[in-house]
Amino acid sequence: MAEKTDLLDAGERLGPEELRELQLERLRASLRHAYAHVPFYRESFDKAGVRPEDCRSLADLAHFPFTTKADLRANYPYGMYAVPRERVRRLHASSGTTGLPTVVGYTDNDLSVWADMVARSIRAAGGRPGDIVHVAYGYGLFTGGLGAHYGAERLGCTVVPASGGMTSRQVRLIQDLGPGVIMVTPSYMLTLLDEFERQGVDPRSTSLRVGVFGAEPWTESMRREIEERFAIDAVDIYGLSEVIGPGVAQECVETKDGLHVWEDHFYPEVVDPITGEVLPEGERGELVFTSLTKEAMPIVRYRTRDLTRLLPGTARVFRRMEKITGRSDDMVILRGVNLFPTQIEEIVLRTPGVAPHFQLRLTREGRMDALTVRAEARPGATPEVREAAARSIAAAAKDGIGVSVSVEIVEPESLERSVGKIRRIVDLRPR
Ligand code: DLL
Repeated sequence: MAEKTDLLDAGERLGPEELRELQLERLRASLRHAYAHVPFYRESFDKAGVRPEDCRSLADLAHFPFTTKADLRANYPYGMYAVPRERVRRLHASSGTTGLPTVVGYTDNDLSVWADMVARSIRAAGGRPGDIVHVAYGYGLFTGGLGAHYGAERLGCTVVPASGGMTSRQVRLIQDLGPGVIMVTPSYMLTLLDEFERQGVDPRSTSLRVGVFGAEPWTESMRREIEERFAIDAVDIYGLSEVIGPGVAQECVETKDGLHVWEDHFYPEVVDPITGEVLPEGERGELVFTSLTKEAMPIVRYRTRDLTRLLPGTARVFRRMEKITGRSDDMVILRGVNLFPTQIEEIVLRTPGVAPHFQLRLTREGRMDALTVRAEARPGATPEVREAAARSIAAAAKDGIGVSVSVEIVEPESLERSVGKIRRIVDLRPR
């Protein structure tokens, strides 16, 4: 225990009262900064009839207007910046599957805070100064690679900047260089698993102790699968470019009970996705973030579309968010029933005879949407086992979620593998 407290940084040692005071002070400064320097915020606050001075308690934040992805797009590329462009030291962009990407910027200080938060995250995951950290998140405009990289350096680790792809080389690097920590999307970790097996290397025999997995939703079943197959601890890291990148919230390895939000820098709220009303702790809804210290691109009440709930702190003073079940964007509505890909993940992972690789294909039959689950057979699964697996997945979807789905069990290695964020849903409906 003594060792553990010694390792905590100043923010993590705050008492609950001190934390609330610090948050309010930072929140007020951040609202002032946004209002003074970003025309978009000046307009939106004026329209809502609120001034930064009106924020006298943390609860007052609820009177301020939301910011959405559409607002960021409307101000593409530099309209949301609160500092002269010359002070922006780096740019990143969100993956933007449709339309314009969101370009986000960082001052020197923003980069430093970000590195501190990722360092804090890796330490919470069980990484220590001196560890070798294999970073297989993609490097480039995506925040995953460089975000993890500078955080690991900040913690005092040796970084292997592997990036995503060239999977056979990744296995080689892991064997030769002896990392204790790997940072990668959970879906790409499964791709690595296949590659270990293909090369005849026991994935449980590596030097890895901890995996820091995020950038996409993943379930408790996936955690068990990865922990078991690699003999490591698997913990969850969350973040988004609009707020900073990875390192907004992190699960602690000693509790694995949801992600502590680093709320000395990123203030969370959970709101009703339809009415926008702030929900009490413990209720599920859409996660909303306000940055407390960001200089280049302060963000006020950003609607993440990620669904979760807030819970009291355990291993840290900060509140936790429950593991994310999905994004409102990824929700499929089938005959009135809401379904998230993570629900199918839970089912596929407990079905004998199928590998943890699956895809959801959405089609339209007449005026109704239909969903086909494509799951991969494990090598050697007999036709009888495959049949039984298909029946069992369909029955579990019917009983557990209340939807009828078709199931196709496909050949081993036939579904596309992830090298970064996986795309679970293939939407084949006519536009
Ligand atoms: O994915 C940042 C990141 C990189 C986080 C590496 C963790 C590790 P974006 O590309 O902007 O940023 O995508 C952000 O990804 O709103 C969530 O929908 C999803 N996401 C990120 N982390 C998790 C997670 C990075 N741990 C979007 N669980 C977010 C579930 C996650 N979803």
